[in-house]
Amino acid sequence: MQKIGIMTGGGDCPGLNPVIRAVVKRAHLEEWQVIGFRNGWKGLIENDRILLDGKSVSGILPKGGTILGTSRTNPYKKPSDVEKIKQNFASNELSALIAVGGEDTLGVASKLFGEGLKVVGIPKTIDNDLSCTDYTFGFDTALNIATECIDRLHTTAESHNRVIVVEIMGRHAGWIALQSGLAGGADIILIPEFPIDVDEVCNLIKKRHERGKTFSIVAVAEGAKLSNHEIVLEQKLDEFGHVKLGGIGNVLGKLIEDKTGYETRVTVLGHIQRGGSPTAFDRILGTRFGVKAVELIKQGKFGDMVSLQGNNVVSVPLSKALGALKLVPQDMYDMAKVFFG
Ligand code: F6P
Repeated sequence: MQKIGIMTGGGDCPGLNPVIRAVVKRAHLEEWQVIGFRNGWKGLIENDRILLDGKSVSGILPKGGTILGTSRTNPYKKPSDVEKIKQNFASNELSALIAVGGEDTLGVASKLFGEGLKVVGIPKTIDNDLSCTDYTFGFDTALNIATECIDRLHTTAESHNRVIVVEIMGRHAGWIALQSGLAGGADIILIPEFPIDVDEVCNLIKKRHERGKTFSIVAVAEGAKLSNHEIVLEQKLDEFGHVKLGGIGNVLGKLIEDKTGYETRVTVLGHIQRGGSPTAFDRILGTRFGVKAVELIKQGKFGDMVSLQGNNVVSVPLSKALGALKLVPQDMYDMAKVFFG
């Protein structure tokens, strides 16, 4: 009997459990066993694993998070960890490993493939910033949560005649902020791709209030830059070298209040955007990705990542997908600007 492994790495995201369930169900059709490794690459290093049978994936489809746990462990920080992964791959007699993750997790998967391990990737991130796939699961859920939050902030901002700044996740790419801002009717949207000056933000708000509006909603991605300066909450880097962002909402809120004189409040959505049940879209995308990943293994297409292109689930080489992040293009931001102010 063939055995395949699966791990989930990086930040958790709604839709991971539908992927795990789909992988197990599709693998069982081939009469393959599925071994789940706990807590990202850490589980592969420490050989912390469980057998995923039908019972272990029963009822997990609507659940957020990942039953396997996750971490931001980077095995390439320590050459001996990479060796341990290779040993555990062999000792568990895996014929392939499915790595579910974003840029960092899949970057490790791609390197391991380069070193001879049979790996297949599944793209995941609420940020939707992975190239070569139209969408990653998790994004739709985060987008809907952020949109609902903006709707809620609107009613309180309007009642109190306030400016409300809402800080939304998105480190390098502003997909969630842009799209929830559009869907929720934010009056200004700030994203990492297009730095905008604080005075410009304040002028837009002032003009809007001069037109008779008594409140404003400013959607800001956590990685947005004010006059080209990133607001960094902590200088500590994670194992993949990312700084911990956050804090721009409060900085911006204070500047807006000082410069416009309008009472301003700040809401940081944070991990609420990543928690809870996946939307139907994310459940279906995760399910399709899981099934396709097992089929790639069956076809011997290692080193590939499943991807959504149009309405088709296809596969692309991991190396191609990892070249550059998928950022919000200029024309999309220009379109959003129609609604600013
Ligand atoms: O990559 C997904 C993401 O949610 C980013 O939007 C955010 O910057 C980061 O993870 C937060 O990471 P952590 O949960 O480790 O604080």
